[in-house]
Amino acid sequence: EKGGYDYFMLKEIAEQPKAVADTLLGRIDAEGLLRLDEVRIPVHELREVDKVVIVACGTAFHAGLIAKYAIEHWTRIPCEVELASEFRYRDPILGARSLVIAISQSGETMDTLMALRHAREQGSKVLAICNTNGSTIPRESDAVLYTHAGPEVAVASTKAFLTQLVACYLVALYLGQVRGTKWGDEIGAVIRDLAQIGGEVERVLETMEPVRELARSLADKNTVLFLGRHVGYPVALEGALKLKELAYMHAEGFAAGELKHGPIALIEPDLPVVVVVPSPRGRSVLHDKIVSNIQEIRARGARTIVIAEEGDEAVVPYADHLIRIPATPTLLQPLVATVPLQVFACELATARGNEVDQPRNLAKSVTVE
Ligand code: M6R
Repeated sequence: EKGGYDYFMLKEIAEQPKAVADTLLGRIDAEGLLRLDEVRIPVHELREVDKVVIVACGTAFHAGLIAKYAIEHWTRIPCEVELASEFRYRDPILGARSLVIAISQSGETMDTLMALRHAREQGSKVLAICNTNGSTIPRESDAVLYTHAGPEVAVASTKAFLTQLVACYLVALYLGQVRGTKWGDEIGAVIRDLAQIGGEVERVLETMEPVRELARSLADKNTVLFLGRHVGYPVALEGALKLKELAYMHAEGFAAGELKHGPIALIEPDLPVVVVVPSPRGRSVLHDKIVSNIQEIRARGARTIVIAEEGDEAVVPYADHLIRIPATPTLLQPLVATVPLQVFACELATARGNEVDQPRNLAKSVTVE
């Protein structure tokens, strides 16, 4: 049932191009418009939404952090993202025009369920993004957009994460479509790129041998840091979470701009630091800033592991290890940038002799608060 792979996690990483394509299937029509009639929230209500609030835990929370960038950029609706476990205890401000999005692979996470119940009690509409048909979270929500990742068995989430991102992009674009905001050439191009993205994920998977080699060479390290900016910041958080779960190593993700506000004190010779570099095209300010962050940490002896777009030559002089990913629009980059981090964590876990599919102390779905 592992399809020839040693672990479910490896199988699920390999299934990502298909999971992404399946999640898009039937949702973009021949004219490049989104068809999300399955989201049974009336269009007039979606037009009136004045705030989006995303609640989720763990990896699904990281998908939510990325969704915020997409939702605010493409729809101009303010969006908050909150850990489900924190949400209801602070008495959040919600109303009938708030759209709450609950993201959950299993659909059974108690913290997320309690957050959505709280939102509905306040009169807000709840849209679930979920991978498990008929599970509790979609049953208790007003509407659901299913991710079509197929069953995810490994405790560490991989293909579910990529499909959560796809679903979030679809929701963001759909909100833009029904509201007519920013609906121009950019959005049309993004939809075309999204339709191709499964192929790009496939290309990344074909080039992972050096990442595995690198992971094995770091098996005796104690700490790995992850840095990113913009959507690369949640990707850094996700890379760190995967490493904690699987390799039982100390790993932390930071916004690269925060370095000089504290974390740079952690940099010491030979410390592995993974940096997710935004595209040099488009938002080049971000790119230039992160290149100078890489210079700063390298000057202090860090071992820089740089994830950068093909053709980005500016990072080459400062990268001890360079992992190439295909060029994508900035907001879609997490779909390709996360994959090497999954492979990295999985290989490190194996090299350290850990149980990949069932890490210690963890459960696949956390049904207690
Ligand atoms: O089933 P859910 O998506 O609600 O689960 C949320 C988290 O428990 C989950 O993403 C967890 O962080 C994973 N083990 C991450 O790999």
